[in-house]
Parts: sequence; structure tokens; C-alpha cells
Amino acid sequence: MSKRKPIKTAVFPVAGLGTRFLPATKAIPKELLPIIDRPLIQYAVDEAREAGIEQMVFVTGRGKTAIVENFDIAFELETTMAERGKDLSVLEATRFTPGNLITVRQQVPLGLGHAIWCARAIVGDDPFAILLPDELMIGQPGCIRQMVEAYEEVGGNLISVLEVPREEVSSYGVIDPGESVGVLTEVRGLVEKPPVDQAPSNKIISGRYILQPEVMRTLEGQGKGAGGEIQLTDAMARMIGTQPFHAVTFHGKRYDCGSKTGFVEATLALALEREDMGAEIRRIAERLLRG
Ligand code: UTP
Repeated sequence: MSKRKPIKTAVFPVAGLGTRFLPATKAIPKELLPIIDRPLIQYAVDEAREAGIEQMVFVTGRGKTAIVENFDIAFELETTMAERGKDLSVLEATRFTPGNLITVRQQVPLGLGHAIWCARAIVGDDPFAILLPDELMIGQPGCIRQMVEAYEEVGGNLISVLEVPREEVSSYGVIDPGESVGVLTEVRGLVEKPPVDQAPSNKIISGRYILQPEVMRTLEGQGKGAGGEIQLTDAMARMIGTQPFHAVTFHGKRYDCGSKTGFVEATLALALEREDMGAEIRRIAERLLRG
């Protein structure tokens, strides 16, 4: 049995403005946009549950109430569906054990690092996971489960990475790698959007983390970084060298659903894989491509 503190809490920052999807996200939070019939936040919550995480912390902001309502019991809807003999199992994943969904408020979206810091009282002295719901990670097992398994081996801080073709690295944050053993790579540094010829690796940082609670103290009073926002990457970079830091190479697919093309790609890819519609979507796509 592992002696490490288990990862029981996940933080989901959902207070961003979602400006890249306007006007769709004027009244609807980006995190509720569906890939086919499941909102993005649902995929992230399911991924955390699969990893044995019980306590979910949503960092919300103005106009984001519907995200929390998504996980309430919809009394009228459910009663009417039951009366009409409809199958309620489609709502199963939206149910939480009472007390396991906690919301904290980020009044002003000052950046991802600031959003995480807003959850400090809930996180307390335990290591915790972070999932960015607009990065859809599809794997078997899921990304956070792969990371929890790695965490049980090495502890410390972990970030998930994916390998991309070298010419694409300048759109992402990449790691400066040390020694690699299996899926684990020691992290020596983090570099934001490096020019291709100066990139220390082709391992890009994706939106899943397991961090030690000390990151909250590192974020405390941290100034603004890139884009005028309080950046999580800056806090992590400051922790490297003071605590163990590893990257876990994710085996699976990542879709950047914070961008329109990534969102469409995810919709198409997941639809093609579904038993109930894959064949039909393939026919439609082929017809459209023929023009
Ligand atoms: P993004 O960088 O995608 O920002 O945030 P955004 O505001 O949501 O979207 P755009 O760029 O304006 O289109 C990544 C994740 O971090 C959360 C977002 O809700 C998203 O889930 N976030 C970001 C916060 O919770 N607070 C912030 O201050 C910034």
C-alpha cells in the first residue's frame, strides 16, 4: 500500500470569460457547451471520478450558475420524465453525493493561477488535482487516472504532457526535460510558446495537474505574468527545484475545446466513434467532403 496522501480533491477552474466563443458564451458558460450530448464540464467530472476523486471544487464567477445547476436534481424535469415512463439513467452522471460539490468564487477573472488560489481554503494541506474542462482528454484509462497512478509511484507535483510535431511547439507551453523513465519525465523548467529552434522539447503542457498544497503559498501575492494574468505556469516554474516535479506523457487524445477548430474536431471525432451514430456521421462527412 502506498503511503502517499491520496488525491481526493479536484479543482475545476470555470470562471473564465470564454471570449473566443462569443456570442455563444454570452449567456451560456463555455464549460456547458456540449460535445454531442454531454457538456464539457461533465467529461471532466467523469474523468476525475474515474480516478477515485470524490470532492469536486468549482471555481465559478459571474454568469456561471448554470454549471452548478447542471449537477442539481431537476425536480420538475425528473418527475415529469418519471410520470411519462422515460429513462432517467441519462441523468445519472449529473448526480453528486451531497456535500461533494463545493463552489468558490473568483469575482474577477484575473487568470488561471488566481482561480486556483481562490480554492486554497478547501484544498488545505492536501495534494490535489486540477482539470481544465475546456481541454477534453480522451484516454483509457482517463488522463487523471493515468496521473494518479504515476503519482502513487513518485509523489510530488505532476503535469500531463503530450508530444506534438516540433513545428507546432511555439503555440504551447513546453517542458524543459530531464531524465525520462517510462511515462515519467523529470521537469527542469517550463517555457511558454518558445520559437521552434529554441524549444527544449516537443512535450506540450496540457490541462491536467496534480500539485502539492504549497503551490497556494507560491501563488500568494504573485504578480501578473503573460497576458496580464496571474499564471499557474509561473507558480509551478518557481516550485521546480524546491519539490519533485514530473511530467506524465498522456496516452490518449487531447482536444482543445477552448478553440473553435478544436471544438469541432472533438465533436466530429467523438461522433465518429459512437455506436449509435458513427456510421451515419461517416456517411455524412464523406458526402460533405465530396462537395
Ligand atoms: P482560458 O485560458 O481558456 O480562458 O481558461 P477563458 O477566459 O475561459 O477563454 P477565452 O480565452 O476568453 O476564450 C482556461 C480555463 O481556466 C478558467 C476558464 O474558465 C477555463 O476553464 N479560468 C481562466 C478561470 O477560472 N479564471 C480565470 O481568470 C481564467
